[in-house]
Formats: sequence, C-alpha cells, structure tokens
Amino acid sequence: ATTGTPLGANPARGDAVAMRGCAELSIVVPTLNERANVGLLVARLREALARIEWEVVFVDDDSKDGTIAAVRDIAAIDYRVRAIRRIARRGLAGACLEGILSSSAPIVAVMDGDLQHDETRLSAMFEIVRGGGADMVIASRYQEDGSADGAMTQLRTSGSRLATRLAQSLLKTPIHDPMSGFFMARREIVDAVAPRLSRQGFKILLDIVASSPAMRIKEIPYAFGPRLHGQSKLDSMVVAEYIGLLIAKASGDLISTRFLAFGMVGSAGVAVHLTALHALLSRGLPFAAAQTAAMFTAMAFNYSLNNAFTYRDLRRRGWHFLTGFGLFAALCSFGVVAGVGVSSLLYTNPSRWWVAGLAAAAVGTAWNYVTNSAITWRP
Ligand code: GDD
Ligand code: MN
Repeated sequence: ATTGTPLGANPARGDAVAMRGCAELSIVVPTLNERANVGLLVARLREALARIEWEVVFVDDDSKDGTIAAVRDIAAIDYRVRAIRRIARRGLAGACLEGILSSSAPIVAVMDGDLQHDETRLSAMFEIVRGGGADMVIASRYQEDGSADGAMTQLRTSGSRLATRLAQSLLKTPIHDPMSGFFMARREIVDAVAPRLSRQGFKILLDIVASSPAMRIKEIPYAFGPRLHGQSKLDSMVVAEYIGLLIAKASGDLISTRFLAFGMVGSAGVAVHLTALHALLSRGLPFAAAQTAAMFTAMAFNYSLNNAFTYRDLRRRGWHFLTGFGLFAALCSFGVVAGVGVSSLLYTNPSRWWVAGLAAAAVGTAWNYVTNSAITWRP
C-alpha cells in the first residue's frame, strides 16, 4: 500500500488523508450468467493478491440468473468489490471497456468471471507492468508452457488456432495469443485508444493491440482451465464479429464492423426487394402497388436484421422496436430521394447507366448508415 503524501496534495489544506486502501490494480470482470462463479473468484483474488491493493469491478449485462445480486452481496462485506449493472446493452468488449473507464487504478486487468483464467498469474503480471518491464502483459495459452487442454473442444481448438494465425498475419503481430481474454496494462494505454475501440464482440485485447502500435508487450504462459459452472457465450455471432474486426483493423478503421454488417444486410435486402416485386407482379398487381409493397417488405427485413445483428448491442425491443421501424423507414425514404437525386445528376451518358446506379446505391447506403446510426440506434 502507498503511504506518505501523494503528489499535488496539500496536507495543510487537509488533502489526501485517505491514501490507504486506494487500489493499485483494478480488475475488470465481465459477467453474463455467472452467479455460481463470482463468489469463488473473489475468494481466490483475496488469496492471490494478498500483497497488493486491488479492486474488482464486475460488469454485468443484466444476467437473468441473479449474478448482480450475488456480486452486491459480496460488495456489502468487501469494499474492494464493485458492481456495474448494464441494461439493454450487450457485448463482452463493451462491458470490459466500461469497467476499465469506471475505475481509477494506474494499472488495469481484464479477466473472465468463470474461473477459467488462472488468477495466480495476476501478481506476476502486476510486477512486470508496475516495474516498467512492459506496457501490457498478456496471459497466453499458446506460448511455451501455456495450454488450453481439456478446456476447449476439438472444433474450438482448431478455430482458435486459425483465428490466431489470421490475426497474426493480418495485423502483423508476433503475439502468441492475440485472442486472449486475460491481460493487464497501464491505464494510459487503454485510455488513449478507448474512443476508437469496438464495443461488440469478444476481442477487446486484439483491438487495443491493433490500435496502439507503439506499446511494449510481454506474454506469460498460463493454463486455460475448464469451466465448472455455466456455459460459454462464444457463438457464431461472436465469430462473425471477429471477422468484421479483422477487416476493420486491416483497412485502418476505414471499414467498420458495423458498416460492413449494414452493407451486407442491405445487399440481402435488395434480393428480398426483387423477389417480392417479382412475386407480386406475377400475381397481377399493378406496378406501383407491387413496388410499394416490395419496398416495405425489404425495409422491414432490413430493419429487423439490422436490429438483431448490426446494432445487436443497441437492440430496440417491444414498443421501441415499433417506433424504431418508423424512424428507419423515414430515414431510408430520404436515402432513396438522395440517391435518385445524385444519380440523375450523374446520368449524362446512357451507356454508362451503371455509374449512376452505383452512385445512387453508395449515396443511399451511406446516408442510411450514418443517419440510422445517429438516430435510430443512437448509442
Ligand atoms: N458483460 C458481459 N456481456 N459479459 C459477457 C458477455 C456479454 O455479452 N459475453 C460473455 N461474457 C463474460 C462471461 O460471463 C465470462 O465471464 C467471460 O465474459 C468470458 O465468456 P465465456 O463465454 O466464458 O468465453 P470463453 O471461455 O468461451 O472464452 C474466453 O476465454 C478465451 C481465452 O482467454 C474469452 O475471454 C475469449 O475472448 C478468450 O479467447
Ligand atoms: Mn469461459
């Protein structure tokens, strides 16, 4: 623990009399249905970090199993334990970021709440960062002496290896385990890039590393343990978000994961539009009626998919789902007008009709993306 008068404090003014117990290390633990694990984790942290002033911040995405109540029960008897309950937001990366930003210790760590990350490595990681040996220390499964035996299925092991290679070559990083969810860093490192980090998906570490090129990284091996209670939340959506993150980082953040998803949904929407239009016309509906109906079908399709995937972390539900559709439809109608406007300006040469067509699609998509991100799914 730190004693004495801290920098900038004026004892005569009565400043800084409460230095004892101030955390030197903030540990951020994202949780989603981990009720059975949090108590044991805190007990293990107490033992592993007996010589450090630490705090732990649980960031819970409104788990249905009562995780937050379990955390608060512990917080009631241990001042080092804090709870953040997030409502209507989802996502591991965003939860970690919020926990980091809510804490103040000069060194921050992120670890899982399901006891799969070996907490006895924390003090070694802490010594390295505090001693200036690195800006960030990653606990690694794939370094010599590290392992994930028994903790991952065959499929997951191959998937994880592939994802690791992709990350290593695309981002030109020599890190053994860029997919690790267990790391520690100087606070300034994360603070500096925080506004640029993706809040979706699992890969916050990869994102931080890719966003801060001039950082000194060390890896230490650990054994990824088996999960005792509950189950993994890594699903196909997480994999899709990972691929999006790679593309975003490889393009220097020019193409964001969200924009990519929005574009993909939009392309599928065009197919839906044409299919519906064809079906309605062949039933003998007049063109204007068929076109209007097809347009609304495509809009409803686009809206639902964007709500479920593209803006999954900001998903609108119940009544807000309906009002959101109103906003989306209104904004997209302007998008059509803008697109048509631009394309008729560009339509000077009939043999190059497709230039005007592409320009209309680009302008419309950009308009729809920017305005819906700012209004319909405002963070
Ligand atoms: N707040 C919040 N919101 N927490 C979440 C969410 C979410 O949407 N999704 C998962 N979590 C929490 C879980 O409750 C757990 O504490 C932790 O994040 C990791 O989730 P798991 O579902 O257990 O992931 P895993 O074990 O398959 O993979 C983890 O370990 C790997 C090895 O370090 C992740 O951290 C991977 O990113 C990592 O590669
Ligand atoms: Mn896990």
